[in-house]
Parts: sequence; C-alpha cells; structure tokens
Amino acid sequence: MNKNTIRVLVIEDEAFDIRRIRKTLEPFKDRIRIQDVVSNAKDALSAIQTHTGSVDVIIMDYQISGGLMGENLIREIKKVDSTLQIIVITKMTINQTDLYFANQLIESGAYWFGTKYPGDIEDYIYQPTDFILSITNAYDRRQLEIEKNSSQSKLDRNIRNILSRRPLVGDSPVMSQMNQLIEKYAQTNASVLITGESGTGKELVAMNIHYRSPRRTENFITLNCAAIPKDLIESELFGFEKGAFTGAREGKPGLFEQANGGTIFLDEIGEMPRAVQAKLLRVLESGEVDKIGRKKKYKVDVRVIASTNRELERMMERKQFREDLYYRLNILHIRTPALRDHAADIPILIKHFIQRYSSEFSMIAPLITSEAMNLLIHHRWKGNVRQLKNVVQRLILSSSDEIDHETVRTCLGLNSGSDFEEFLNPHFNAQNVMPLRELERDFRRRYLQFVRGVSESDAEAAQKLGLAPPNYHRMCKELGLK
Ligand SMILES: Nc1ncnc2c1ncn2[C@@H]1O[C@H](COP(=O)(O)OP(=O)(O)OP(=O)(O)O)[C@@H](O)[C@H]1O
Ligand SMILES: [Mg+2]
Repeated sequence: MNKNTIRVLVIEDEAFDIRRIRKTLEPFKDRIRIQDVVSNAKDALSAIQTHTGSVDVIIMDYQISGGLMGENLIREIKKVDSTLQIIVITKMTINQTDLYFANQLIESGAYWFGTKYPGDIEDYIYQPTDFILSITNAYDRRQLEIEKNSSQSKLDRNIRNILSRRPLVGDSPVMSQMNQLIEKYAQTNASVLITGESGTGKELVAMNIHYRSPRRTENFITLNCAAIPKDLIESELFGFEKGAFTGAREGKPGLFEQANGGTIFLDEIGEMPRAVQAKLLRVLESGEVDKIGRKKKYKVDVRVIASTNRELERMMERKQFREDLYYRLNILHIRTPALRDHAADIPILIKHFIQRYSSEFSMIAPLITSEAMNLLIHHRWKGNVRQLKNVVQRLILSSSDEIDHETVRTCLGLNSGSDFEEFLNPHFNAQNVMPLRELERDFRRRYLQFVRGVSESDAEAAQKLGLAPPNYHRMCKELGLK
C-alpha cells in the first residue's frame, strides 16, 4: 500500500448504496482504499477503536439503523480520534439546501456532506468528481491536523520541561497560597508586580506565570534594569531605527517587539530611570511603542510582569518612582515570602537542591543527618532561598556520603561565632530603622532559632527558654518558624 493511500471506512446499511460507493471509487483504487464497511454505529466505533490510526476518512450515511446516528455518532467518532474526517451522505428526502441541517453537521464535527443520487442511477453515489475531491481534501486536512497536534504536543512537552527544571518548591500554607495566585493570575492579561526580599524567587514566580499562561508558547523576555547602564534601558526596551542618531548604522528591535504576543519581565523595576518610566507608562496605556527614529508608532500585545526588592512606596514619596506607573504595574500583586516566614519548607528545599546538584555534579546524593538538618532549619537565611541553594552546593562538595552538622557549621560560617556576635551586637542601620514591635519580633525569632540550633530537641529548647512546650510551639508558629 502506498504511503499516501487514503483509507476509508464506510458506514452504510443499504447494500445498494454500498455498491454505488464502491463503483464510484473503483477508478481511484490506487489512491483510495475501502478498508472496511460496517452497518451500524457500534461496529463503526469498535472498528476505529480497535485499529486506531488505520482509517483516514469516514463516509457515513446520515440515517442508519441501530439507534446512534447522525450528529451524535459524529461526536462519538471525534471523541475517539479528532483527526478523523467524516463525510456524510444523505438521502434526497432531506433537503439539500437546508443550511441549518448542513450547519448542524459541520458543527458536530463533520468535514463535508453530499446528497445521494436518486435510486435510478446505479453507478454513482453522487457526482463522482465532487465525491473524490472531498475525500482527498478531507485526507489533506487530516494530515495537517496530525502535524499541528504533534507540534503542539512537542511544544507542551518543552514547556513542561522548562517548568520541571525550575520548579517552585514548597508546600507550606504561604507557598500553596502563592501557587494558587500564580495559577489564577496566569489566566489573565493584567500586569503583575512581584515584590519580596532578594533571593525569594521573584524571577521564578514571573517565569511560572508566563509558562502557565495561554501565552506560554510565545516569548518570555527579561530585562534586568539593574544590570545594564541606565541610559541604554530605553533603546533596549523600545529599539531604534537605522539612522535614528549618529552611530545607529543598524536598526535594533526593542524587547517589546520581541515579546509581542508573549510576556516581558522587567526585573528590578526600581532601578528604571524616571524618564523611561514615563515612556513605559505610555506604552502600557496605549499598547503602542514609540521606536526611536520612527515616525509611526506600532501596536504590541505584551503582558508585563515587574519585580523589585525595593520599597516602591518609599521611592514614590521621594519622587523616585512614578505613582501612575506604580498603579499601572500593581494591578495584580504577589509578595514572595522570606524564607524565615516559611521555614517549614526548608527540608524539602534542601532535598530538592541536594538531588539537583548531586546530579549536576555527577555525584551520589549524600544523606543528611537529622542534627545537620536541624541546624539548617533554624538558621537565619538572610539571603533566602538563593543562599540556601548556595549553601547546599557547598555542602555537597564538602561532604562524602553524609552531610553532618560539623560541615553545616563550617559552611554556614558558624564556627567563627560571627553569627552569635552579630546577634548580641546588632549593627543598627540608619537607612533601615524599624518599628520597635518589628525589632522585637526579629529578636524573638532569632533568639528562638539560636536556642533551637544549640538544642537537641524542641522540648529541650522550650525548657532552656523557660517556656511550656505548647507556648513554645505557638510562638514558633507565630514567628513563622514552623
Ligand atoms: N521556592 C523555590 N523553589 C526552588 N527554587 C527557588 C525557590 N525560590 C527561589 N529559588 C531559587 O533561588 C534563586 C533565587 O531566586 P530568584 O532569582 O527568583 O530570586 P529573586 O527574588 O529574583 O532575587 P533578587 O531580588 O536578588 O533578584 C534561584 O536560583 C531560584 O531558582
Ligand atoms: Mg531577581
């Protein structure tokens, strides 16, 4: 059989019509082969279910006996394989010009329909050229749909790969809530502002929003406003035309142009100069980009996600950040929690990073003693998950088959006693004066962590602190340590 042979399944219960179909197709038997003829829906469905992929086109009588027929049968066939193309043939009794009828058929998934010749024509089922053409066109359409499905599933697989390589680890209540927000926000087109301390996963959240959104197959473009010179940000974002200024020998597409249809992530938006902030606001409001040196603006469809670890409210008070832009970006908001506020996730984060880096370094994943784990859980992670990740890498490289608490102390720099020193003698910072309540809370958290770190168990820590165990647990919970 030729690779391009069109395999046809006929669903027809009248011997006379089956004969007419065979005769009509006879001259084209090299191209079109009748694979099977069945007389009812049950046999039809079982034929395509048991031999999936063995049929390309179905020629189906509209009225067949045995209950299931017409539009309902079409829908059932499409459920089995949506790429199967169905041509419906009907008796003359059904008015050919009935557009409503045709529409119903097409809507339920039929590819085409034709009206049978009257019974006195014995050799053809209907106009042979039309019949053959509709079969070959149906076949072509099936090939296209198969190709489309396969590239779509390849894309989906790639996207799942991207996400599984960079998962957002953590199942504590705060992380689960954040995950739900990401899922919800991903379905919209509104701007999102992500705030949170350094190393808390802002970039990871932005990626997750894009790759879980309907824009996932389009570009995700990042501009880190802190990483490039301020006077280049504008031309990076909006591009310029050839000859726009001296030295512009070549034109340059802007990032907005590259992100068209997708998402742009403006990292460290707090570093964006005020002049560029004004231009960005105009683009966000009009959806049009004003390329340097170009007379006409051009339309773009880009979703914007911005992030910062700076206090934008404070920057607005000082007129360093435009209020109108702030409100335009902050339509949806996600705050990534500091690691100390979801310390309960530390064990699975550690396990995740141990797995990831041992395999990256081609090493066997070391075990970790419970004492070592305890130290890590109760450490003050000022650099949040990024710091934890770096420490785990160091631990893997400094351990053989087991990570013990001595290695942890060394990798955390605890042996020098510096953490304790700083704890006793904090460096108050004029730029970062906090309310007394917050300082007290910080102190309590750190002291509890410190005491737990030098104790064997929660019970021992509670005892040292002079607290009843339930009070100790409640306090740990309040401080985000559990
Ligand atoms: N929940 C998490 N699960 C797994 N990895 C995480 C998580 N949070 C952060 N990370 C990892 O920690 C590192 C820092 O995260 P990211 O770059 O997203 O932080 P950030 O908030 O953008 O920090 P900065 O403000 O310093 O840019 C990255 O390698 C990231 O993959
Ligand atoms: Mg970042």
